[in-house]
Amino acid sequence: MVVRPARADDAEAMAAVVEAVAPEGTLGAQPPVDVAARARGYRELIGGEGAAAWVLATPAVVGFLTLYPRTPGVLGLAMALVASARGRGGGRALVDAGLAWAGTTDAHKVDLEVWPDNGRAIGLYAATGFVVEGLRDRHYRRADGTLRSSLIMARRLD
Ligand SMILES: CC(C)(COP(=O)(O)OP(=O)(O)OC[C@H]1O[C@@H](n2cnc3c(N)ncnc32)[C@H](O)[C@@H]1OP(=O)(O)O)[C@@H](O)C(=O)NCCC(=O)NCCS
Repeated sequence: MVVRPARADDAEAMAAVVEAVAPEGTLGAQPPVDVAARARGYRELIGGEGAAAWVLATPAVVGFLTLYPRTPGVLGLAMALVASARGRGGGRALVDAGLAWAGTTDAHKVDLEVWPDNGRAIGLYAATGFVVEGLRDRHYRRADGTLRSSLIMARRLD
């Protein structure tokens, strides 16, 4: 498994990762995932100003991380790996690549949201210097009608 910068032609494979992972409930995205629309979004992000993406490749794309300008100086992080690629350092390698690039920009912070019961993701973020900044209490209405809280985690770059 290698981490490399995403190319525009990775966009469909990145959207397919989201489609594969969404049924687990670990992501904000829920089934049915509009793969074509999501791929368009990734294609724009990859070519976009101030944004960047990396893929974990076997060489097939089995995971990705995106960083996009959320508010001036703050990069929003999103990532996912298919189940078979997890637990082998790939997530860590993606975060390391993203943070290395973020450190070369004039951004002062990287932030993200994670479900409070996603222990694996929280463990990875804590291990890479993210701290909990807050809780969005019963904030997201899910497709099944339930309300979910999310943790806001962030890593300062300054
Ligand atoms: C969360 C995710 C990106 C982590 O990637 P991964 O490749 O499984 O993680 P890694 O193998 O790189 O582990 C990195 C660190 O995570 C932590 N970690 C891994 N598995 C863990 C677990 N089961 N519980 C707690 N922490 C764990 C450890 O700190 C580990 O550090 P170490 O290498 O020193 O042991 C991946 O599991 C995933 O895509 N999950 C589904 C989608 C998702 O949750 N996305 C994030 C939404 S916010």
